[in-house]
Amino acid sequence: MVVKNICCLGAGYVGGPTCSVIALKCPEIKVTVVDKSKERIAQWNSDKLPIYEPGLDEVVKACRGKNLFFSHDCNAAILEADLIFISVNTPTKTFGNGKGRAPDLKFVEGAARMIADVAQSNKIVVEKSTVPVNAAESIMKILKANQRPGVSYQILSNPEFLAEGTAINDLLNADRVLIGGEESPAGEAAIEELCQIYEHWIPRKRILTTNTWSSELSKLAANAMLAQRISSINSLSAVCEATGADIAEVARAVGLDSRIGPKFLQASIGFGGSCFQKDILNLVYICECLNLPQQAAYWQSVIDMNEHQKHRFTAKVIESLLNTVSGKKICILGFAFKKNTGDTRESAAIYVAKTLLDEGASISIYDPKVENSQIHEDLKYVGITPEHIESHLSIFKDAYSATKDCHAIILCTEWDEFVTLDYEAIYDQMMKPAYIFDGRKILDHNNLLRIGFHVETIGSRL
Ligand code: NAD
Ligand code: UGA
Repeated sequence: MVVKNICCLGAGYVGGPTCSVIALKCPEIKVTVVDKSKERIAQWNSDKLPIYEPGLDEVVKACRGKNLFFSHDCNAAILEADLIFISVNTPTKTFGNGKGRAPDLKFVEGAARMIADVAQSNKIVVEKSTVPVNAAESIMKILKANQRPGVSYQILSNPEFLAEGTAINDLLNADRVLIGGEESPAGEAAIEELCQIYEHWIPRKRILTTNTWSSELSKLAANAMLAQRISSINSLSAVCEATGADIAEVARAVGLDSRIGPKFLQASIGFGGSCFQKDILNLVYICECLNLPQQAAYWQSVIDMNEHQKHRFTAKVIESLLNTVSGKKICILGFAFKKNTGDTRESAAIYVAKTLLDEGASISIYDPKVENSQIHEDLKYVGITPEHIESHLSIFKDAYSATKDCHAIILCTEWDEFVTLDYEAIYDQMMKPAYIFDGRKILDHNNLLRIGFHVETIGSRL
């Protein structure tokens, strides 16, 4: 079989950009991205895409209507596809067995059942969602139990390693593509089909093939190890603050060791995003289920350190503001979990905002890409009442209006535009003493001190 039609179930942060790039690089393949959310599909077909990702608009514009289609007709897309990506969400369970740790696989299972119900020809089913080890086996069980005569399936694991904010570049220049499959001639043939798609733009030596379980575990391992570096540097940031060492200097010195490398050593208010916490919890749960309590505790500590860092930073803000923020106006610059995305999932800014609102502060927020409705939704989700939001939260369209009459600024997201703001003008319109808490270590602290700000940051004393 030569793949001519691809279907992707799930038009989210992974399904949308991944399939747009496949369509761009494989003009002879028809790529249809489907989602059960009609609203999301309508956005993909509009001028304002549902996610902000640098470079994505251009790729979608180049292919949409040619060989890239967004549709909510899942059945039609499954019917005609030779290869189906499952790119649905796999959130942490909020109920029942494994609550708070195990991933909820209901959407993956739902996708598998849709395929089983509809398919009338052979399909390669590719698990792109991040899943626990052995999930491919569960998908296969569902497909086999509902198989029509004459229809056969191959399941591949092809985890996605893109990061938000750099997704298009990550997809175009992937460090590696990982494909896991069944160790049989049919499995190898399916792996080869998927390899050929990626080979349109990724050199063969960067396409790794392995067995399904190694592939599934490698994805969890990669995220766990990236997050572990952040928790390690964040733990050292507290040691720096207590001793007078500077975490930026420590990270530089450590990162120049070629065995360690410089990336992912940026101390911060804590990592956010939809995946690090979820995937480590998934790994912790797997270790617990395998009766490996020490291993579970080891990975759990990465999350515990992250929670502690968010708490430690916010406590420092309150302490600096003379131990009370009640009645004070505080500006949060940046609400997304990192720059160049409008995504707020697990953003540290949510924790900061909630804590300050609970303490009686009034909050003003500015983020260049996060929608107002998203901020409201996030704060409601963590238990702030609509009345409290109404009376204590204002959202602004620029940093200058947001900081006016504030007692303090907390920089939560490292947006480039925050580096070049006119801080003299901002200082002049703030209450005095004026405080800045740089949760990302991106500002020119000496300049801020010269202007008159009281400045605090992570991992160094000023
Ligand atoms: P998302 O929530 O943005 O998108 C998932 C989409 O799937 C939703 O729009 C939902 O409506 C849709 N969906 C659910 N069930 C469906 C079904 N049966 N048929 C059709 N559509 C269905 O999620 P995401 O951020 O794209 O993540 C998807 C998966 O990829 C997760 O497992 C995640 O861990 C993994 N991942 C995410 C990233 C990232 O940067 N966000 C990176 C690598 C891997
Ligand atoms: C992360 C991984 O980097 C991707 O490889 C992976 O595919 C993805 O998770 C996933 O599975 O979802 P993402 O969460 O989009 O990507 O973004 P990152 O750049 O990893 O940043 C995650 C968080 O860590 C952000 O809040 C960021 O600000 C923070 N971070 C990152 C630090 O605090 N310090 C650093 O040095 C690096």
